[in-house]
Order: sequence, then structure tokens, then C-alpha cells
Amino acid sequence: MTIRALHVASELYPLLKTGGLADVTGALPPALIELGADVRVLLPGFPSVLAGLADLKSVAPLARSFGARQAALEQGTLANGVVVYVVRADAFYERPGNPYLDAQHVPYGDNAQRFALLGWSAAQLAQHIDPAWAPQIVHAHDWHAGLAPAYLKAAERDQHRRLARSVFTVHNLAYQGIFPAQQFGMLGLPPDFYGMHGVEFYGQMSFLKAGLYFADRLTTVSPTYAREIQTLAQGGGLDGLLRQRTHDLSGILNGVDYAVWKPSTDTLLPARYTDTRLAGKRVCKTSLQARFGLPQKSDVLLFGVVSRLTEQKGLDLLLATLPEIVRHGGQLVVFGTGDPALETGLQRVAQTHPESVAVELGFDETLAHAIIAGSDVVAVPSRFEPCGLTQLYALAYGSLPLVHRVGGLADTVVDASLENLADETATGFAFDRFDPESLASAIRRAFALYARRSEWKAAQQRAMREDFGWGASAERYLALYRELT
Ligand code: ADP
Ligand code: GLC
Repeated sequence: MTIRALHVASELYPLLKTGGLADVTGALPPALIELGADVRVLLPGFPSVLAGLADLKSVAPLARSFGARQAALEQGTLANGVVVYVVRADAFYERPGNPYLDAQHVPYGDNAQRFALLGWSAAQLAQHIDPAWAPQIVHAHDWHAGLAPAYLKAAERDQHRRLARSVFTVHNLAYQGIFPAQQFGMLGLPPDFYGMHGVEFYGQMSFLKAGLYFADRLTTVSPTYAREIQTLAQGGGLDGLLRQRTHDLSGILNGVDYAVWKPSTDTLLPARYTDTRLAGKRVCKTSLQARFGLPQKSDVLLFGVVSRLTEQKGLDLLLATLPEIVRHGGQLVVFGTGDPALETGLQRVAQTHPESVAVELGFDETLAHAIIAGSDVVAVPSRFEPCGLTQLYALAYGSLPLVHRVGGLADTVVDASLENLADETATGFAFDRFDPESLASAIRRAFALYARRSEWKAAQQRAMREDFGWGASAERYLALYRELT
């Protein structure tokens, strides 16, 4: 029997992307469809979402708008054929720039209403607001969709019937969707949903906790992160709930969409290459050096970073270890956007070392591909990392990842230790302690391996031949849906 599942999220590549969540919601639904599931997506009607969908048409008016005056459900199609429902509420979503933050990097004052409407609309779809299609599974992603399972449970209780089962996926426990308790009233949830057994979280409410509490099954994006978030140190105050629900929680690794991230077919690159014909990678490297105004030398070790610039990503540690790269004659290219303090800190470092460090601020898909392809090493020194996609892309492009051994980074990169080199399993560099010494020795390992060209090439080829495609992970999600229906 075909399973009908609705994915509920706030971003989706290629319509709107601020991070890896969009890559997942762009790739997982088609991978599930490939396996025979009937999958649709629900998104807020942000300007680029509306602009990017073909045949946008109206489905039904929405009876509640949470203060947006007018809200309606529309439907359109992605280039790959996936059907996307859109919550049309221009007063909430028609804002230029970041979907969550205003121009001053401050969360919009009405985020609780904006994302309550998204969760509530998902529950409406489970109640057949579209006569042509209703989900058996509502699969909500991150705090933005955290209220979907809550609204679903409330409607089921109200109507004394089962509407749909729910899955909630945590992409990042650090973003908890926390709002003042006083805003609970306007959500229209049953009063008893506010409490320790519900959306209450240390005297406030948390949309993330709502998802974790009310969904039938929980997943996160790597097996190691699934364990980490059940610990006091890394559970963000939710570890108790996660431990209680340990039997409902699983870690399913994200995949790579090789239609987008594959060096042999990537039209965003100046040259293409494969694991056996690496000449194109050298072209990517010199053109990257030129693009960033660094000396165009093919034999210096080039480190690349493509990242949101937030505390999570550990770039402060990389800066503290910069002398190690400079001393060995390496180069560093950083591209990202985010926290203004980090942005200026990085720019200052680039001004101090113009011969070896280049920093550019911004968000650009083409440049992201150019850096992943043109670097010898892609650095991901994150404090914590639920899964991480850039290290997976780096593997596919033969750019050895250098990572902190946490979360999904620990699950996907094998350190070039002597024994792993001897076993022919090494695909990158991993450090255990989040301190400059530990990172510095991983950097030294990278230089040491680079000096042994044939071993470097062997590691590159191993990395490029690994399969991190969505197939296996989509099977696991589908198995979860089957258990539930
Ligand atoms: P996170 O979701 O925490 O940001 P991931 O590694 O899972 O981390 O995903 C990051 C995604 O965002 C990748 O697709 C990466 O290429 C992309 N990305 C990050 N920063 C930029 C940027 N400045 N420009 C373009 N793409 C970026
Ligand atoms: C989050 C995490 C990242 C993960 C991505 C997609 O943004 O920070 O580790 O890869 O979601 O699941």
C-alpha cells in the first residue's frame, strides 16, 4: 500500500535555503517518492517559495490566520514534480531577506504566530482540507513545524478519531523556538497542553519541545547526535524528555543529493572531474585561488570553509589555530554569513594575512560549490554538529574533511591516523577535544599526509567512492512510516 506523507518545514532547496535543512527537505521527499511513497511538502509562502513554484493554484481558505488577517492554502509543483502546499499569508511571510530574522538579525516579534500557522495548517491537511489528498503521516522538521504534532493530537482528541501519525525530526536542538508563556493563549491549543507534559519549557513555551512531546516518533539526523542529545551536557534542557522517549528516537543519517553535488556533472564548477581523472580539480583550485586573490600555487595546502557563521561552527577555534596553517605555508578561504561579530573577526584576520587568508561574506550556491571543489581540505571544526552536509559534499569532491569528532561528523569521516591509513579506511582528519592543540595536530596531520602524495590521492579516491546517497536513509524513514500506519 502506498503511504501518503506530508513533510512540513520552513525551507527547501532550491526555493529557499539558509542551511542544511533545505538540502534535506529538497532531497528526502523525492527519494521517498522513488521508493514508492506518495509524498508532498508544506511550506510557508515566503516570496522565493511562491516565485519558484509552477502552476500555483488555490486549494482552500484557512479558517484561522493567527492575526495575519488572511490565510489560504495554495498548491504548486517543483521542477522535479514534487507537489508543494503553501500557506499563503502575506502579512506573515512576505518579508524580504532571512525567513526568521529581521534586518537587524533579531527574530521577528510575531514568529510564534507565523509558525503556529504553519503547524496548524499541517493538521488541517490531515483533516482533509484538500479533498483530493490527505496525509497518513505528518513529518515535521525542527521547531518551525513543532506545533504540527500538537495541533494534530488536539484535533484527534476533539474529534475522537485518528487523523494521522506524526514524526518529528530534530535538525538542530540548539534552536528551540522559545516564546513567552503569555503567547500560549493565542495558539488555540487545549489549556492542558501547556505544562511540563506539553509545550511548557522552564516557564516559557518551546515549539521544539512541542514536537518532541507530541509526535509519535522522533528522529534526528545522525546516530551519534541521537545519543549526544540524551546527555545532560548536550541535551539543551530537553535530555530528560529525550531519555524518556529513547525507544521512540532514532538517528538517521542525512544523505547527499548527487544530482546537485557530484564533481563529474557539476555545471557550477570551472572544470569537472572524477576519482580517476583529477585534472579538473586542479583547475578548480587555481581558479578558486584567483577568485579569492590568493597566490595561484598548486602545491600549497588549501583549506576551505563554507558555513553559517555561528557559535556552533567553531570558526573561532580555527582562527585560534591559524598560525599552524600559516606557518606551514597553507592557505585558507572562508565563505559564509551570520553573526556580525564573527564576520568582522574573520575579515580582520584576512587583512592581517592577505597572502594566506581570504574571507568573503555572503550566501551563494555557485561559490559554495567552487570552494568545496577547489579546496584540498574542507574544515568543519563545529562545537556540535547534528549531521553536517558540507563534509559529505567534501568527501564526494575529493576534498578531505577536517572535522571535530562529534555528531554526524564522527559518523562520516575516518581520521588519517597511521592505523587507518594502513587499513585503507582514512578519508579525512578528525580531532577529539575542542581545543587549539587538538585541532592543531589534526592540521599537522593534513600537512603530513599532503606531503605523501600517493597516500593523499588514495584517501581522496576512497572519499569520492563512498556512497552517502539518500537511498539507504530514505528506506529507514519509510520503514518508520510503515511501523506507524
Ligand atoms: P547547517 O545546516 O548547520 O548550516 P550543514 O552542513 O548541514 O550545516 O548544511 C549547510 C548547507 O548550507 C550546505 O549545503 C552548505 O553548502 C550551505 N551553505 C552554508 N553557508 C553557505 C553560504 N555562505 N553560501 C552558500 N551555501 C552555504
Ligand atoms: C542543521 C544542522 C546540520 C544538519 C542540518 C540538516 O542545520 O546544524 O548539522 O546537517 O540541519 O539536517
